[in-house]
Amino acid sequence: MSVSPIIALENVSKQFRSPDGQINTILQNISFSITTNQTCSITGESGSGKSTLLNIIGGLDYPSSGSVFWKEKYIHTFSTDQLAFLRQSFLGFIFQSSNLIPELTVLENILFPVRIAGKNIQPYRSQAMELLQQLNIANQAQQIPEKLSGGERQRVAIARALILCPELIIADEPTGNLDEKNAAVVIDFLLKLCNEYHSSLLLVTHNTIFAEKMQRSFTVKSGELIRLNMGLRPIPRKESWTP
Ligand SMILES: Nc1ncnc2c1ncn2[C@@H]1O[C@H](COP(=O)(O)OP(=O)(O)OP(=O)(O)O)[C@@H](O)[C@H]1O
Ligand SMILES: [Mg+2]
Repeated sequence: MSVSPIIALENVSKQFRSPDGQINTILQNISFSITTNQTCSITGESGSGKSTLLNIIGGLDYPSSGSVFWKEKYIHTFSTDQLAFLRQSFLGFIFQSSNLIPELTVLENILFPVRIAGKNIQPYRSQAMELLQQLNIANQAQQIPEKLSGGERQRVAIARALILCPELIIADEPTGNLDEKNAAVVIDFLLKLCNEYHSSLLLVTHNTIFAEKMQRSFTVKSGELIRLNMGLRPIPRKESWTP
């Protein structure tokens, strides 16, 4: 039985114009899909186009050519508002820069997607605190983002992306600002959540050990998305996630 993808890309290319007017091709003819309960990593040199690719997958940027489908819906006919509404219903995006709202506390930032989704915030408060505890920053719940370290901000952004238990988590270097120990905690935590909620994870990382923990591994090179491991790795058993 074939499983329909959560997200699919068909022949996606992206060009940017440089300040001197040159057209640079960053991504060319990329076709890719991810289905339920799949984990994928994308590595690649700095500037190779990983964030550009994630932004296109997440509907935050448009391809120069090619198509993007969310749950088999062609997304380019949707308005920005429609896209935003659809996005929050199934996708949690962890940005490379944490993108927190400066005026809101940590807890309010995490609950923000709940508010945007028009849901009752109250039942989500304990879940938000639970996430903060798992990410070792529960003591910062009432703090504002500018008083946090870069790594703490990153963990708040992770909690915010997870609060609605998304079907797909897109994580752009979520451990870039973290020390080795906390980075491993975050990756194992993301894998554990994916298993519990049958979510999928698309992880961009420079860390090859983390990349290899995912079932499928890709790299972006010369604008192409190249598959690194051909076999589908089984999802690790729960016991082996304990750090
Ligand atoms: N809006 C834009 N306009 C022009 N060029 C852009 C734009 N966004 C990205 N680029 C260029 O596209 C290339 C790929 O950028 P991208 O951010 O996708 O790289 P990356 O692989 O995520 O790098 P890193 O590992 O450093 O985060 C870079 O050369 C960047 O300068
Ligand atoms: Mg990037």
